[in-house]
Amino acid sequence: MKVIIPVAGIGKRLKPHTDSLPKPLLTVAGRTILDHVLRPLKKIDVEELVLVIGYKGELIREYVDKNYNFNTRYVEQEKLLGLGYALNLAIRETEDGPLLIILGDTIVECDLSEFTGAGDFVLGLREVPDPERFGVAEIENGFIASLEEKPSEPKSNLGLIGLYYFSDSLLLKQLLGQHVDSGKLTSGEIQFTDALQEMIQAGTRFVPYTVSGWFDCGTVRTLIEASAAFIARMEQPQPPAGSAYISPVFVAPDAQVKNSIIGPNVTIESGATVENSVLKDTIVNAGASVVSVVVENSIIGRDSDVRGRAQTLSVGRESRVIFEALLKSDK
Ligand code: G1P
Repeated sequence: MKVIIPVAGIGKRLKPHTDSLPKPLLTVAGRTILDHVLRPLKKIDVEELVLVIGYKGELIREYVDKNYNFNTRYVEQEKLLGLGYALNLAIRETEDGPLLIILGDTIVECDLSEFTGAGDFVLGLREVPDPERFGVAEIENGFIASLEEKPSEPKSNLGLIGLYYFSDSLLLKQLLGQHVDSGKLTSGEIQFTDALQEMIQAGTRFVPYTVSGWFDCGTVRTLIEASAAFIARMEQPQPPAGSAYISPVFVAPDAQVKNSIIGPNVTIESGATVENSVLKDTIVNAGASVVSVVVENSIIGRDSDVRGRAQTLSVGRESRVIFEALLKSDK
């Protein structure tokens, strides 16, 4: 089957991390988001992998060519006109037949053979607390009766998670092409969900497939949460003498930890160094060096250098000492 993965987005909410890397190359539990997406594809028969690239696309191309053996084609997306626009660029040049589409910026845990085997047309769904942020499905008699993109009054709490299977891509190609040509925008974008709704109106019966493991990787907080969920399942390392680990933590075998308290929910990637520090809910990317700091809810970028300093205090009885973040005006 053919697989299309759009990875052109800018990942604005992850700035400054996405200033130097496209979002799919940010890491979760020591592996890139894209690796979490591509690795499961090794278990199914992928005839062709089409990646829609845009923002920092050369880095994605270099990374995929170096690390995977898929028969890969790259399609450049120049205009950021939405998911429907991005997918149309890839689909219009892809031969008809079985097609799997996976959105490349979230991590879904699902057996792809089971997913594609669930019906001729299958959409991945999940119950979400905030359906107005998703494409929302309404189900009737075991099939999807309607789809609506980010509705203000959702008809259910079942959100599209970004996993779509078509046993034949022909009708999708036609309808999406017409949709893009018509220039119809919803919230300023050409919506893929609108084309799927048109397929339903044309008689396609989509089978709903609910997945339990879905990790949004759109913000610093959700990246740290996703990492935490993955490292919680990994074998927990022993701390070196002089340091303490509070599970779950992941420390790459070639990372160095000295005199520190690490965890919970801390990932220290390959080649990183952490010394005299206390880290909680934090990702330290490869090659970074962190010395004498107390941090939480943080991502320390690749090869960066973060140094704090130990305070010397002589505090009298009944004093109040409060350290506050440095305000911009204090600089
Ligand atoms: C896209 C889709 C939406 C889907 C979501 C899943 O929206 O348009 O239907 O529910 O991905 O992450 P986006 O998150 O790009 O706004």
